[in-house]
Amino acid sequence: MTLPLHTASQLESIRAQVRAGRLEWQDTSAPEAHIPVENYTSQRIRDAEIERLFRPLPLICGHSSELAPGQVIAHDDYGVPMLLTRDAEGRFRAFLNVCRHRGMRLIENTGQAQPRASVVCPYHGWTYRLDGSLRHRLHAEAFDDCGAADTSLVALPAEERHGLLWVVPTPGAGIDVAAWLEGLDAEMPFYAVDKLVHFRTVRAEYPANWKLITDAFLEAYHIRVLHKDTIYPFFADGLTAGVRFGPHNQSLVARRAGEAWAKSEAEAPGDMPGLCELTTPSQVIFPNTITIFHPDYLSLVTLYPVEAGALRWTHRMLIPADKSTPDWSPHWEKTFRLIEEGVFQKEDIACAIGIQRGFASGANRWLTAGRAEQGLGWFHADVARALSSVPSF
Ligand code: FES
Ligand SMILES: [Fe+2]
Repeated sequence: MTLPLHTASQLESIRAQVRAGRLEWQDTSAPEAHIPVENYTSQRIRDAEIERLFRPLPLICGHSSELAPGQVIAHDDYGVPMLLTRDAEGRFRAFLNVCRHRGMRLIENTGQAQPRASVVCPYHGWTYRLDGSLRHRLHAEAFDDCGAADTSLVALPAEERHGLLWVVPTPGAGIDVAAWLEGLDAEMPFYAVDKLVHFRTVRAEYPANWKLITDAFLEAYHIRVLHKDTIYPFFADGLTAGVRFGPHNQSLVARRAGEAWAKSEAEAPGDMPGLCELTTPSQVIFPNTITIFHPDYLSLVTLYPVEAGALRWTHRMLIPADKSTPDWSPHWEKTFRLIEEGVFQKEDIACAIGIQRGFASGANRWLTAGRAEQGLGWFHADVARALSSVPSF
């Protein structure tokens, strides 16, 4: 296997930066970015984000391994009650989790998929197939004969791609994940997310704007200070290479081993373990998903603005299938706690909450992102662009 085009040039950029003794940002003449504090505090902007980002765009609702053939799962992370199904043939579909009779919620959210031949409404027993069609209702003769359109579950555009379950939470909209991902689509097969399996999901709400979390994953400037006692010992200071695909972003953050590799004559690695030994790849899949490819597993984080000053955090840990046996569990438990509790909660999320608390003081009218944090300026510009334009999906 060889590295995909852009990943290969990012790795080359890391080598070039080390050899030149200059970091990428030191050669940019772009001005610093000023991000209005209002972006994080305005309920009007939050509502516009729901309308323009979280309803018309394809959102990641889970990993393929969370839903086996013949299973259903409720999904409530995005403020729309969703019912995800996979039929016996393996086809993934999404619906509103709402009965067509008198609107009862169909499946409760246990956080786990459940095997179901059909979905039975708990109120009067209307029964639906996993393709959403009505199979049966008690005393059918009590109802006028209406068409399937009025009795089938309301479908949401859904697609399975790169091992991820994507849904547009708006009935009748279109979905084309490959087109949406632009150049990132061709990079994804190498990252082999479809070969991983689900280990654990943590869901939580925090008093901070959702974009403060994204900001933290768009720059490596903070690693040396905020993470000095946790992950910084593994990383080279500020040595990164980023590439943008439309509103999406992919970065490689060099590890110490990557800095040593860059100084050597060794060839570029050709597989994921090799790449993840030298760098930690991370992607921001617009608008709300962050991937962090740790040395041996993937953190998949999705965000949702519950309010302007409150976010929903969903962190899935996805591990290699050949290391998913029970004897590996203690290792993954320990690793997950270290990252989720020790790094994300105590460091990155704590900063987001601390920043949000300070907004009301009026100390800043905008936040400043320097040339080493350019990703933030681009991300906020992409959000602003989406809010001021007509959605394309
Ligand atoms: S509301 Fe579902 S069967 Fe009546
Ligand atoms: Fe961080």
